[in-house]
Order: sequence, then structure tokens, then C-alpha cells
Amino acid sequence: MVDAGDLFGSRNKNDEFQSAFLAEMTGEMGYDAIALGERDLNYGLPFLKDMIEKHGLPYTNANVRDTETGELILPEYLIVERSGIKYGIVSVMDPRHKIVTMTAEEAAFQVDEPVPVLRELLPRLRKEADTILLLAHLGEQRATDLLREVKGIDLCVIGHTSRNINAERIVNDTAVFSAAYEGRYIGRANLFVDDADGRVMAIDVGITTLGDKVDSDEEMLARVEKYKSDLVDYKTAKRAAYPRTMGSDKETFLGERACMSCHEEAWKVYMDTDHRSAFATIRYRGQSFEPECLVCHTTGFQFKQGYSDDAPYNKLKNVQCEACHGYGSQHGRDGKWLAQAKDSCTLCHDKENSPEFDYASYWEKIKH
Ligand code: HEC
Ligand code: HEC
Ligand code: HEC
Ligand code: HEC
Repeated sequence: MVDAGDLFGSRNKNDEFQSAFLAEMTGEMGYDAIALGERDLNYGLPFLKDMIEKHGLPYTNANVRDTETGELILPEYLIVERSGIKYGIVSVMDPRHKIVTMTAEEAAFQVDEPVPVLRELLPRLRKEADTILLLAHLGEQRATDLLREVKGIDLCVIGHTSRNINAERIVNDTAVFSAAYEGRYIGRANLFVDDADGRVMAIDVGITTLGDKVDSDEEMLARVEKYKSDLVDYKTAKRAAYPRTMGSDKETFLGERACMSCHEEAWKVYMDTDHRSAFATIRYRGQSFEPECLVCHTTGFQFKQGYSDDAPYNKLKNVQCEACHGYGSQHGRDGKWLAQAKDSCTLCHDKENSPEFDYASYWEKIKH
């Protein structure tokens, strides 16, 4: 029983919580091999390794390396014996799929071209295995292109695709199939294998839709319900840790556009600063719903009338004028309102997030 990769969810903490549950359940289902998809690194390598260890997930991959050490991050291949036949299971990922993690920079991983990797590996694997199975996390077109170039693979299961392939398809002597995404389908392949040399002669495939006609397992269903209520608790606790109690009920944030018309010069400077893209920075990392990031990458988070996910407060994205100057409704011209801006920097530019911070040189970059 194999999976062709991308088990995990999107890059945000709620999905990370869900993926941990999926990993636990997948572990219990007793897979023989799981391919690495780029999504499986969404929460970083330490998270993946933790799941592998806790739930015995048989991940394998032959072309993703740690850039620093040059070592493969997962076992290069797996040997699984069933009914006297030894299956060599190998998996590759597409170098063109971008790996973005919530914890490390993309540069932490190097993805080798699959064709040369397999040409080198397959002869070695052939010595240990009767039948070779490739989990191609490449999508349908690139997997097919690869099979035209590389001989010696008996069966290829394609990942990173949203299509079922349930016809009996052979490419360059390799039997090919795939069952589509989101746990909605399960595929089965019967291989007809030559007794003498273990080569696959023919393939017969079938895809089952896991719809209403398939009964749910009562015990699993109960655990899914439990997981759902745990998720609600998790989200509630996270919000509660960041109450919106600072500031005053009487004051309001007016939003950056309210300052634009009267302070053209300041506006021009501000438009070109990194403060203006602070929200895009966390959104790129899938963390734009995380209170622990919103605190410093938005305006007035945790302040009454300040940033929240809901309209109209969600327009207070980024580090706007009022993140430093304070509630626009307090606007005064006697110098008092201005003074607090200077003291605001270190609320966000703390040691952990801005170790190089020095008022004079930083102010120089945004002065207006
Ligand atoms: C509400 C939080 C917050 C406050 C207050 C704040 N900053 Fe920032 N600042 C940020 C964030 C977040 C970034 C990173 C933005 C990005 O790149 O996404 C940043 C980036 C910067 C940068 C760009 C750094 C670089 O390497 O180019 C400068 C300069 C800067 N801030 C200066 C200041 C100064 C000076 C003050 C005080 C007058 C200040 N900031 C107040 C949150 C804040
Ligand atoms: C206490 C305030 C604070 C918190 C909390 C915070 N940041 Fe930042 N962040 C900053 C500041 C300030 C900078 C700019 C640092 C500098 O250039 O000196 C920054 C810079 C960054 C950068 C680099 C921006 C660039 O242009 O390269 C990234 C990425 C980032 N933050 C992501 C996050 C994420 C994700 C979270 C939540 C897990 C987070 N930050 C939480 C204050 C914060
Ligand atoms: C990162 C923090 C920060 C942001 C964002 C910011 N300011 Fe300021 N602003 C300051 C600081 C600090 C001063 C100068 C305080 C001092 O040195 O007296 C200042 C000064 C000013 C002044 C007085 C200038 C003068 O001639 O005395 C105006 C007006 C002003 N800001 C308007 C704005 C407007 C409008 C925006 C948004 C388009 C904005 N600021 C964004 C921190 C900020
Ligand atoms: C209707 C025009 C108008 C709008 C809108 C406006 N300001 Fe002002 N602001 C002024 C004038 C006029 C002054 C005094 C002259 C000056 O310093 O430029 C001033 C002064 C300031 C000062 C210096 C205060 C001081 O005590 O010296 C800051 C800071 C400032 N404005 C920020 C803002 C910010 C932030 C916004 C948006 C929330 C904003 N202003 C919106 C007209 C405006």
C-alpha cells in the first residue's frame, strides 16, 4: 500500500494541527511506502521527521538533499517483501516544484534532476529487488516524459496530479497509474509477473471512489469528531492568548489613506519602505492568520479598533503610519502626539526579530 506524496496541508498553523492528525491516522493504516511531496515540507523538516518517528511513516525520496550537508533527507529507497516478491520502492520529486516551509528558507533543500538520479540508482536497486515501483511526485506529463527516458521501472504511481488514471497504460514497458487527491479515491493494481525473472507482464487497475457507498469505520469516525473539537479548542486558546484590550474605546485608527492627502511627502517615503509589505511577508509564509506574527506585521493588533481578520479592521494590514504614531483620532500638532512614534520602534524591533536594530541607522532608511 503506497501513497504518492503531498499528505500534508497548507502552510498555516491550523493545517499543521490537522496534518499531525492525518499523519497519526495514516500511520495506523500501515502503508508500505509514502513519497515525499513538496507540501510535506510545509511545516519544515523537523516536523516531518517528528511525524515519521511518532507514527512510523515509511517516507522515501531519492532526490531531495539538505543543501548544507549534501545528504538525502529521507531513505533513498525501500525494500518491501510481499508473497515472496521483493519490491524496490523509490520516489522522486520535481525540482520545479517550489519548496517553501514555515520554518526554514527554501535554500535549505536542493532537489536533483530525477532522470540522472534514477539512471544511477536503478541498477543498484535491481540487484536487491524483483519488481521496481516508482512513486513519481511529478504530475502526469513530467512523469510520462521521465518514463520515456528511463527504462527498468515496472510500475509507476503518479503523484502531484488531480486525475485518476484507470486505463491500463504502459509507457516504455512501465505500467502506469494514479488515484487522485484528498483521500477521495483508492487505486488497486494487479500486476501479472513473470515467475522466471520477476518482470511485470501486464497490469489490471481499478479505482474505488470513497464516497457514500463505502461505510465509515465507527472508531475512526469517533476519532475524527474528537479531532474536530480539539481543533476548535486549539483555535480558541490561540485567540485568547492575544486579547484585544489595549488602547481606548473612544479612539480610532483612521487607516493610512486618511493621512495621504495632507502628508504627501511622508506618504511617498512610506510607500517605498518594507513596512508597507510587512503583511505580504507573513502571507507568503502562510502565517497571515497567526496572532504571533500579526502582532508586529499589522497596525494596532491587540488594540481596541486595531487590526483583526474581520472587516473593516482587516484594512489595517502592514506597519502603517498609525502603528508608530498611534490612533489617528488623537492627531495633535503640539509635538505631544509625535513623541511616542520614536519610542514605538522597539515594540516590534526587539532582540529576537531585529537583532541589528539601531535607531539612528534604521530611522535613516524611513525618515520623513
Ligand atoms: C508595529 C511593528 C513595527 C514598528 C512599531 C516599527 N517597525 Fe520597523 N519593521 C517592522 C516589520 C514587521 C518589518 C519587516 C517588514 C518586512 O520586510 O516584511 C520592519 C522593517 C523595518 C525596516 C527595514 C529593515 C531593513 O533591513 O531594510 C526599517 C528600516 C524599520 N523597520 C525601521 C523602523 C523604525 C525606525 C521604527 C520606529 C520609528 C520602526 N521600524 C517601527 C515592524 C515595525
Ligand atoms: C515582536 C515583533 C515581531 C513578531 C512577533 C514577528 N515579527 Fe517578523 N519581523 C519583525 C521586524 C521588526 C522585522 C524586521 C527586522 C529587521 O530587518 O531588522 C521582521 C522581519 C521579518 C521577516 C524578514 C522580512 C524580509 O524582508 O526578509 C520575516 C520573513 C518575518 N519577519 C516573518 C515573521 C513571521 C512568520 C512571524 C510569526 C511567526 C513574525 N515575523 C513575527 C517583527 C516581528
Ligand atoms: C515606522 C514608524 C513610522 C511610520 C510607519 C510612520 N512614521 Fe511618521 N514619524 C515617525 C517618527 C519616529 C517621526 C519623527 C519623530 C522625531 O524625530 O521627532 C515621524 C515624523 C512624522 C511627521 C513629522 C515630520 C516633521 O516634519 O516633524 C509626520 C507629519 C509624520 N511622521 C507622518 C507620517 C505619515 C503620514 C505616515 C504614513 C504615511 C507616517 N508618518 C509613518 C515614525 C513613523
Ligand atoms: C486634514 C489634513 C491632515 C490629515 C488628514 C492628517 N494630518 Fe497630520 N498634520 C496636519 C497638519 C496641518 C499638521 C501640522 C503641520 C505639520 O507638521 O505638517 C500635522 C501634523 C502631523 C504630525 C506632527 C505632529 C506634531 O505634533 O508635530 C504628525 C505625526 C502627523 N500629522 C501624522 C498624521 C497621520 C499619521 C495622519 C493619518 C492618520 C495624519 N497626520 C492626517 C494635517 C493633517
